[in-house]
Amino acid sequence: MDKNQVISVLENIKDPELNISLKELNAIDKVEINEDGKVKIYLKLIQPIYWVAEEINKLCISELRKLSNDTVFEIIISEFPLNIESRPVLPGVKNIIAVASGKGGVGKSAIAANLAAALSLKGAKVGVLDADVYGPSQPTMFGIGSARLEAVRTEDGKTYAKPRDKFGIKVASMGNIMERDDAAIVRGPMLAGYFNMLHEQIWWGNLDFLIFDLPPGTGDIQLTLCQRIPLSGAVVVTTPQEIALADVRRSIKMFEKVNVDVLGIVENMSYFIPPDDSTKKYDIFGSGGGKTMADEYNVDLLAEVPLTLEMRDATDSGMPVVLKTPDSPSSKSIIDATNKLLKKLRLKNFESSKRPEIKISL
Ligand SMILES: Nc1ncnc2c1ncn2[C@@H]1O[C@H](COP(=O)(O)OP(=O)(O)O)[C@@H](O)[C@H]1O
Ligand SMILES: [Mg+2]
Repeated sequence: MDKNQVISVLENIKDPELNISLKELNAIDKVEINEDGKVKIYLKLIQPIYWVAEEINKLCISELRKLSNDTVFEIIISEFPLNIESRPVLPGVKNIIAVASGKGGVGKSAIAANLAAALSLKGAKVGVLDADVYGPSQPTMFGIGSARLEAVRTEDGKTYAKPRDKFGIKVASMGNIMERDDAAIVRGPMLAGYFNMLHEQIWWGNLDFLIFDLPPGTGDIQLTLCQRIPLSGAVVVTTPQEIALADVRRSIKMFEKVNVDVLGIVENMSYFIPPDDSTKKYDIFGSGGGKTMADEYNVDLLAEVPLTLEMRDATDSGMPVVLKTPDSPSSKSIIDATNKLLKKLRLKNFESSKRPEIKISL
């Protein structure tokens, strides 16, 4: 067996999530054949979190077995570098996703907490940044209380605030930084200072995903934040109602203005499933609004999340519903949305990792 045989087998194997071949993904880094005949294969993949790496490993071995039954194949999967180290803001965070809504009370924070939890269930390193000065709710949703964050000193002698660790997720909120009564008096320029503090003085370390719970609305604060933070994209949360949808239009326009990709819309409280009869659905806030909006702006409708007692109860008890009751219809819908989001981000990161070939003419 020679290297070329191995490479031609590998080239046709597809990343099961992206449905793109390892050749097109430029994923085959190196093949080594040792003196004892062992074959070592080095693959570089875009964020091969959890099942993707495992599945590719299995696919490669089963295809390579067709070449030889008694060869030892070892597959070493590493991550394709995303060129983020040179970024001045949050250089250790691979993907920053803003969760936004035009209006308060649509479940933006609950969706943000659950997206973070669902990503973490997939094996990703996740953080949640709650930037809602007026109504910080991540401390309640993750049950971390309102105590101040601990300080950490880094090797370079700087002092940072350390996010709380809950269920393996790093959580930091305005609610853990300011006194409760300070929030009401934070205005204009002072607010900008607080936001700098949120990302410059919190020690996030290395993360695969940072979920950024934005304050509701589309004013200067949101605009400034979206310009300053290197966002991979945004998720817009709405309810099916007409009044909520007018705000979604404004949100989408705001992201267009600052060149941030809207990765999708999550329609929350889409319908109510009564706990005593899970076959029934009630469209309390109307229906179909998220779909109409998604069609109008040509963005994906990631999920229609039902209103359930489990989700209300989980949120209030300080544990995201996808962790507390993973079988609840709300959880299933959010997990499904997370899968779609993950796939989109991997595709986006793959596209942006493609560098134009430099041709030198002599
Ligand atoms: N799908 C849902 N099912 C049940 N309760 C929900 C759902 N979505 C949100 N909630 C509850 O509604 C309330 C408002 O949600 P929240 O996330 O704080 O809204 P926002 O951040 O948009 O102001 C919270 O108590 C939350 O637990
Ligand atoms: Mg909120």
